[in-house]
Amino acid sequence: MSETAELIIDGKKYELPVIEGSEGEKAVNISKLRGASGVVTIDPGFKNTGSTTSAITFLDGEKGILRYRGYSIEELAENASFLEVAYLLINGELPKKSELDHFEFKINKHNNLHEEIKEILNGFPSTAHPMGTLASIVTSLTAFYPESLDPNLNPEETDKMIYRLMGKLPTIAAWSYRNSKGKPYIYPSDNGYCENFLQMMFGHPNKDYNVDPVVADALNKLLILHADHEQNCSTSTVRVVGSSHASLYSSVSAGISALWGPLHGGANQAVIEMLEAIKEDGGDTKKYLAKAKDKSDPFRLMGFGHRVYKNFDPRAKIIKVACDNVLEKLGVNDPVLEIAKGLEEEALKDSYFQDRNLYPNVDFYSGIIYRALGLKTDLFTVMFALGRLPGWIAQWKEMRANGEPIGRPRQIYTGETLRSFVPMEKR
Ligand code: CMC
Repeated sequence: MSETAELIIDGKKYELPVIEGSEGEKAVNISKLRGASGVVTIDPGFKNTGSTTSAITFLDGEKGILRYRGYSIEELAENASFLEVAYLLINGELPKKSELDHFEFKINKHNNLHEEIKEILNGFPSTAHPMGTLASIVTSLTAFYPESLDPNLNPEETDKMIYRLMGKLPTIAAWSYRNSKGKPYIYPSDNGYCENFLQMMFGHPNKDYNVDPVVADALNKLLILHADHEQNCSTSTVRVVGSSHASLYSSVSAGISALWGPLHGGANQAVIEMLEAIKEDGGDTKKYLAKAKDKSDPFRLMGFGHRVYKNFDPRAKIIKVACDNVLEKLGVNDPVLEIAKGLEEEALKDSYFQDRNLYPNVDFYSGIIYRALGLKTDLFTVMFALGRLPGWIAQWKEMRANGEPIGRPRQIYTGETLRSFVPMEKR
């Protein structure tokens, strides 16, 4: 007998099915509740709502576990390449050598941009934030590949869209940056996903550029750590937009916009800006901890807290080690790192942060690494987007393959009840 939950509303009992995931998580299925009772559930911010079943990423916020397709994030970050992880997320299994070679070949084949995209890039003022540019160019891919608007593309055409996105996103990101700096564009190469990106960012059209393997390796790790995170804000956005059968390009563009906000991916930029501000203000970390705790002050300690991790963020643990490693190998001595370490130490001892289970998240240290790699602050969230792309694609693909219905939540209306129109002269 399968388990059920009972709900009593106005004295009437309703039996609701309980489903169980492969890791023992349980959920009460309320999808037929309104039909049976006329009552909906309410859950602002979806804090307690599962929007889907998914076989891609498992995380246990209490235990600090994160796994892609069953593989632990620690093992993947230690042993895999970003493209291997992308293949795993999108296709469900780790690739054999021949499968990975084919995947990489297809992505490289599509890493160039249509020459007319330069015209669009040139139209942006130098003040444009690269996340806005990235979102705009990604959705404009629909203009260059209008077949992507067909919601019933066959698997080969769908794969082509995926290769295009994977290949072009680093080029769009690097070209947006170079355009904002008035630097000439560097065309993509087939020298490895991370190496190609670094070359397009920092190379010269008329000189050789040698990618530092320490930098490429750190970038590879960072992209893996960001590659998926189940139903977060941007991923839910991608799935909801895609559920209307909008194209993959538009769905990912919407995900990029959702990621941009400082409470989500934009936090990595906000962390560095906060650490800089503390440094400028004399480095008094206690003052900023007090501000973060003061409910009348909107200031929050950026890079702290997480919707689902209530113990520690496993990605932050890996990044912290990688951060020390990169700074040491590159010989970088960053004063904001000292401030970050001081803040972390004090916050972890503070009952406000302890009582609310607020720990450093992935964004607390990633910005420091990106800075050491020579990236400008407003590019940090773009790096998050490059990493998250395979996750968005995998989740979009799963949502379409499952034939999920259009995402359309209900609400409880709290406005005026019916009233008569008031003519202008009587208002
Ligand atoms: N600084 C100070 N107080 C905080 C913080 C913070 N960073 N985060 C949460 N709190 C407090 C909050 O004020 C609330 O206190 P109280 O119970 O007294 O009202 C309590 O902790 C619970 O916070 P919440 O806002 O209800 O929790 P949430 O799950 O809705 O928000 C969060 C999660 C990540 C948006 C939030 O912790 C936050 O704003 N953090 C700073 C931004 C940040 O670092 N975001 C990156 C997240 S990791 C990257 C990603 O995956 O997107």
